[in-house]
Amino acid sequence: MFGTLTFRAVIKRAAFSVGAALVIATAAAAGAIEFKNALDDSPLDVGPIAGEQFTDAVKSFHETGKNAYKGNAEAAAKGKEMYDEMCAACHNPDGSGHMGPSFLDEVVSSPRANTEVGMFEVIHSGSSGAMRSFAQRGVTQDQILQIMAYIEELKSKK
Ligand code: HEC
Repeated sequence: MFGTLTFRAVIKRAAFSVGAALVIATAAAAGAIEFKNALDDSPLDVGPIAGEQFTDAVKSFHETGKNAYKGNAEAAAKGKEMYDEMCAACHNPDGSGHMGPSFLDEVVSSPRANTEVGMFEVIHSGSSGAMRSFAQRGVTQDQILQIMAYIEELKSKK
């Protein structure tokens, strides 16, 4: 049977394959889109925050970069509650901008915010100045997608 050394080697190998499996699982979970920090373009960690369970919308966003909640009235209504509480002070309740830029203008202050992935990056990682990271403040990625659905609604009402 296993001598002590062989047994250790077996444990080591097992630990290694668990590690390797984790790396592969993490890579798969990260999906096809490579998210970048809006401040400095460094790779953005879109792993879950404490207690966060990725929803189907988040998983598909990581794969496709498309917000599954766009046009979904229920998600946008949840997004509105969070927007009014966390964003409206700087971006105005109607999205027309205040201390932070307007979402309604054709020319946004950072071209990045013209794409769903870019807008997600700004909200997740934060940008310069007063625009801080909402992931660091405990906002989940599903909630970010709901807020984005509401911003789309504001844009379409303009
Ligand atoms: C304390 C003020 C403040 C709050 C609160 C705030 N923002 Fe911002 N936001 C800013 C500023 C300032 C900028 C411009 C940052 C820059 O140019 O780098 C900005 C930029 C943005 C951009 C990029 C827009 C563009 O045209 O470049 C998006 C998207 C955005 N904010 C979304 C949000 C959302 C969503 C929330 C709420 C969850 C929020 N912000 C809360 C101040 C704020």
